[in-house]
Amino acid sequence: MSAYEIVHHEYDAVVVGAGGAGLRATLGLAETGLKTANITKVFPTRSHTVAAQGGISAALANMGRDDWRWHFYDTVKGSDWLGDQDAIQYMTREAIPAIIELEHYGVPFSRTPEGKIYQRPFGGMTTEFGKGPPAQRTCAAADRTGHAMLHTLYQQSLKCKAQFFIEYFALDLLMDEDGSCKGVLAWDLATGQLHRFRAHMVILATGGYGRAFFSATSAHTCTGDGNAMVLRAGLPLQDLEFVQFHPTGIYGSGCLITEGARGEGGYLTNAKGERFMERYAPSVKDLAPRDMVSRAMSTEIREGRGVGSEKDHIHLHLEHLGPDVLHKRLPGITESAKIFAGVDATKEPIPVVPTVHYNMGGIPTLYTGEAVTLKNGNPDAVVPGLMAVGEAACVSVHGANRLGSNSLLDLVVFGRAAALRTAELIKPATPHKKIPGASEEQSLARLDRLRNAKGKAPTATIRLAMQKTMQKHCAVFRDGPLMQEGIQELKGVIDEFTNDLGVTDRSLVWNSDLVESLELDNLLGQALITIVCAENRKESRGAHARDDIKDRDDRNWLKHTIAWRTGAKDVKIDFRPVHMNPLDAEVDHIPPVARKY
Ligand code: SIN
Repeated sequence: MSAYEIVHHEYDAVVVGAGGAGLRATLGLAETGLKTANITKVFPTRSHTVAAQGGISAALANMGRDDWRWHFYDTVKGSDWLGDQDAIQYMTREAIPAIIELEHYGVPFSRTPEGKIYQRPFGGMTTEFGKGPPAQRTCAAADRTGHAMLHTLYQQSLKCKAQFFIEYFALDLLMDEDGSCKGVLAWDLATGQLHRFRAHMVILATGGYGRAFFSATSAHTCTGDGNAMVLRAGLPLQDLEFVQFHPTGIYGSGCLITEGARGEGGYLTNAKGERFMERYAPSVKDLAPRDMVSRAMSTEIREGRGVGSEKDHIHLHLEHLGPDVLHKRLPGITESAKIFAGVDATKEPIPVVPTVHYNMGGIPTLYTGEAVTLKNGNPDAVVPGLMAVGEAACVSVHGANRLGSNSLLDLVVFGRAAALRTAELIKPATPHKKIPGASEEQSLARLDRLRNAKGKAPTATIRLAMQKTMQKHCAVFRDGPLMQEGIQELKGVIDEFTNDLGVTDRSLVWNSDLVESLELDNLLGQALITIVCAENRKESRGAHARDDIKDRDDRNWLKHTIAWRTGAKDVKIDFRPVHMNPLDAEVDHIPPVARKY
């Protein structure tokens, strides 16, 4: 019997996380009349979606010829063929009504002179199945698109009377003995009270875990809490070895400079002033997909052509666009360049370097949002009562490499899909049955252990060691021995966390020391799986680029990795097949070929 008193709640559905995906799911559920709670550790409009700048893709054809089938093709190719083609078809086809719906909800998109939604080019987005010129497919609200979407979706959710539990930190899933999810345990950070949310459907929309790395565009809150809850529930995560580096993080701070900057005509140069992307991707140049641009920049730096006194970064030029374009289309990043790099982007180049930006991997799901696992030989065995959406999920629409502006799209399309599927599965006000308390007790024991940790190592010190290890051993370029060394180093960091963590504040009210320790616990498991699975994947594909094995190997590795954390330092690996067939005959399956731009 635990010493903690717990407030009990009953809902039809609970969404954890209030970024774009969580809010779109919450809104969809509330619209159907299901009693819905949203639990979020930050105020909804401070969720990390607020930082998404450049836009959201959809083949609206407002600014040139376009077709969602071309978007489908680009996304399959961008994923280096690891994306599931059924889910990619669903996302690219649904993109068009999803954007119109956002417009009708009130998202203040930028406009063309005739009043249509403004669209800019983004990396890897082409026409004519890769044979035509770049597509203008990314719908933008200047360079604050995520911000605009988040505010609109939150307002719409409030209008539909969704209930929000704000600054509640979700601790664990409540599972019953047959492996179904029955709710969530959460901690109210302001009062210190614990809350049990029983629900027939739990939708995890908890984002990525960029903060496992030293330099990331991700907010400090991006600690993959839902992913870690899934691991503690004994379920696997998928494709964690695929970590996206955004080419243009500001040198030093890691703040994002949108790919939209290159979409508007910006370009990169090395120390010799060369536009080096012409050599790496002759047809699309600076608008190549992110994995390729990040590798090209890293190669220039490694070969001594980086800029600055330490030759360790690259220049992004926007000066030639003129103050009017920067003011109208890119006001946010012009301000960020001034604040974080001390640079006037209208006059001088911005110093940039590839920076961790996005996790392609996450909780394996179907395109309906339903979480799946490998069970009795079935690779698509649905976990009853559990869904995941947004960056927390691996649907997998991004495969080995996500195209810019496909993330905001993924949030709204699959947030909506999860709500629709939940409404099919759950009858409002279905009574809740009693469940065994084992998962709740384990969760409380973990909370108690960390709250009372009396070792000598502060959370910040252990976290820095993890971040430096991941940045050094599992970055843009990887190789076997370096990753093996990194795995051993990371296991040492986990030992230190297990045996010597010191938490000084024992209270439950606004205990940021304890919050950060719980988050670090969450990050460590994901960091371990990332580097172990990266070492295990003996090929190069998308964002996973090995110096020691340079080629893609479809014969042996055209498959999703799934991995369980079986002990503090132990990982079990298995595989799921990639869904190579689309949903229906509206598109043809795209067979794998060499990925060239
Ligand atoms: C950007 O604007 O470059 C970020 C948006 C994205 O990652 O899709």
